[in-house]
Amino acid sequence: MLQRLRRFLTAPRRLAELQRAYAELQREARRHAQLIETTTAIVWSANADGKAPQGTTAWSVYTGQTPQEHVGYGWLDAVHPEDQAAAKARWLYSVQHEIPYETEYRLKRPDGTWAHVISRGLPLWSDDGSHILEWAGTVQDITALKHSDQKLQETQAMLVAKERLAAVGELAAAVAHEVRNPLGAIFNALNILRRELEHPLLGVLTEESDRLNRIVGDLLDFARPCEPRFSGESISKVINQALSSVDLGSRGIDVRLELAKDYDQLPMDGRLVRQLLINLFENAAQAMPPVGGRLQIRTERAEEALRLFVTDNGPGVPVHLRERVFAPFFTTKATGTGLGLAVVKRIAESHGGSVLLEQPPPPLGGAQFRVELPLPT
Ligand SMILES: Nc1ncnc2c1ncn2[C@@H]1O[C@H](COP(=O)(O)OP(=O)(O)OP(=O)(O)O)[C@@H](O)[C@H]1O
Ligand SMILES: [Mg+2]
Repeated sequence: MLQRLRRFLTAPRRLAELQRAYAELQREARRHAQLIETTTAIVWSANADGKAPQGTTAWSVYTGQTPQEHVGYGWLDAVHPEDQAAAKARWLYSVQHEIPYETEYRLKRPDGTWAHVISRGLPLWSDDGSHILEWAGTVQDITALKHSDQKLQETQAMLVAKERLAAVGELAAAVAHEVRNPLGAIFNALNILRRELEHPLLGVLTEESDRLNRIVGDLLDFARPCEPRFSGESISKVINQALSSVDLGSRGIDVRLELAKDYDQLPMDGRLVRQLLINLFENAAQAMPPVGGRLQIRTERAEEALRLFVTDNGPGVPVHLRERVFAPFFTTKATGTGLGLAVVKRIAESHGGSVLLEQPPPPLGGAQFRVELPLPT
């Protein structure tokens, strides 16, 4: 009796407590809902057996799937085909072993692009910890992160390549420098020997030493800092000087010049531009057929630059090599050093200009290099 009376007296207080707890729960639920709304992640849930219920609005908006399409393992249809098997296997592993789930995959956006996402999930256990009630987790978009990571890696790779190149260049220059002196001694000895005896092998020795000397010269040219000393020079004169330095006549190469008359004097380092042209002419001559070789040199005025085209009728450069021909030490020739075009690029850029490999207009059809040298403004 006493007990019943006490219960009766305390009932309003307990009711108030219950009401407070209920209000608190409601606030908590609202906070939850708000959190789900405002978080950049998509919140998901799954049944204890690993199958998904209907998708949330956020999932539908993000993937373009209807809530129904999400059901069961339907959500996997929005995952990139290459990532599907791994994502599913990882998920089933977590469900089977009752351990947290975390994996990355690509997810299709309604516009057809692929977003990189990371999905994480945790099991919600029953109060007594005997079994899993359901799973809850999030899908977070990490596309921007992935892109910046990729950019970082690319930049790093480029820096490493540059540094390695600089180190190789320095080493090559040091070796070339050391080789030059003994090479000079070999030349002298060869000259004396040739005066005193006749032997076919002497010709081979001379030829091979000449080649060595050229390689050493190329290496030193490449390693030397390229600082042009500008003065006003006639481009047609420099072109003719370069032409006379390359043996074109004895090979019967037909040279055609088309030079813009009104823009002849240019601020440039004549010695360097001559070197640039010699390298291009040598490549052209080496690429040409033994008979019927044609070399065309044309200049024209562009907006703020003089454009110079060197075109040959050789086989041209295969598409897959076009990006690489300017890289130092890239060569497809048995006796090439692969520095010719690297030097061309360096000289053009040291003049504030550029060089490009183009597809020449018919009927020449070989390789066409376009050099631009800025005109004074
Ligand atoms: N006119 C051209 N026609 C076809 N391929 C060319 C032409 N010019 C350059 N190439 C290609 O580009 C590569 C690099 O040229 P580059 O002048 O840098 O080196 P190389 O001529 O091989 O050697 P080096 O000039 O140092 O003796 C060549 O090996 C060749 O494959
Ligand atoms: Mg060359």
